[in-house]
Amino acid sequence: MNWNELKFKYTKTNAIIVANYSDGEWSHLQVINDDKITINALSASLNYGLQAFEGLKAYRGYDDKIRLFRPIENASRLRRSAEFLGIPSPPESMFIEACKMAVQENIGYLPPYESGATLYLRPLLIGIGGQIDLVSSNDVLFIVAAIPVSSFAGDKKSSFNKALIARDHDRTAPMGSGAYKIGGNYSPSIVAGQKAKQQGYAALLYLDSQTRNHIDEFSSSNFFGIKGNNYITPDSPNILPSITNNSLMTIAKDMGMTVQKRAVLTEELATFDQMAACGTAIVVLNISEIHDPLTGTVYSSKSEGNSTNKKLHDTLTGIQTGVVYDKNNWCLEL
Ligand SMILES: Cc1ncc(COP(=O)(O)O)c(C=O)c1O
Repeated sequence: MNWNELKFKYTKTNAIIVANYSDGEWSHLQVINDDKITINALSASLNYGLQAFEGLKAYRGYDDKIRLFRPIENASRLRRSAEFLGIPSPPESMFIEACKMAVQENIGYLPPYESGATLYLRPLLIGIGGQIDLVSSNDVLFIVAAIPVSSFAGDKKSSFNKALIARDHDRTAPMGSGAYKIGGNYSPSIVAGQKAKQQGYAALLYLDSQTRNHIDEFSSSNFFGIKGNNYITPDSPNILPSITNNSLMTIAKDMGMTVQKRAVLTEELATFDQMAACGTAIVVLNISEIHDPLTGTVYSSKSEGNSTNKKLHDTLTGIQTGVVYDKNNWCLEL
């Protein structure tokens, strides 16, 4: 494979890992050397969007070791999403075993350390039983796929990236499902996200849907801003609790910064020295400008450079690849 040409795009790999939940228990994990599955056309996942998913990566280290980053957090977030939908989710040990198997079965697709690319793991839970009534499904399929990717948005060669505030739709309702990783939160933002990309924006930024005065998050990543020695990130009930953001908050504290997780007014964007999008796929993407199409305001980061964002990015990826000491035991070696 030409690792340097990878994008955040689907590539068929060698195998997916699957397990079935029916009659109240999970089957053994199975390796399927195909990316096709057969499910009932009237399944709740296809008809009512009854599905939850996760995203994590396997990293080839400088020492050639393979590491998963905080997979236990993904297992428990999947459990929270599944509980919200009323469907069963795999126990933590099964989730982790499936992720390990997905890496091992697709080892030829794990990019080398020097490439900066990674193997993205996509755990997925879908309701598969045939039904037309609006009830939770007792028949569930758990899948883990592995896909080689580079980081996901923006121009990798440039630290200049623009984001657009979504003004014609909201990501979730005020008391909605924004804190869960379920497909229904993502499909409504696909067309708007594509349009924003065509207009040269790296990301779409959502405001809180109750007042539209505060920053919530990007369509597939959290927001943070740097002001002086402060790492500031929104606190909102509708944000997906990002494992990357959580890790960066710890790293920022270790760097001697003050971490503030609190409501962030839209106007406060004008005061940040640096701004960023963060998530497993995107890692830390420097955002230089945020455009508000309603008011015409362009919020620019006040500092010319992206030094703090870069330091946070480099420390995080350093931990993930074994270069920086993993003092919190975040990485699970395979
Ligand atoms: C809506 C949303 N916010 C934030 C994130 C970042 O979360 P994490 O850092 O756990 O990947 C993601 C990606 O999973 C996401 O889809």
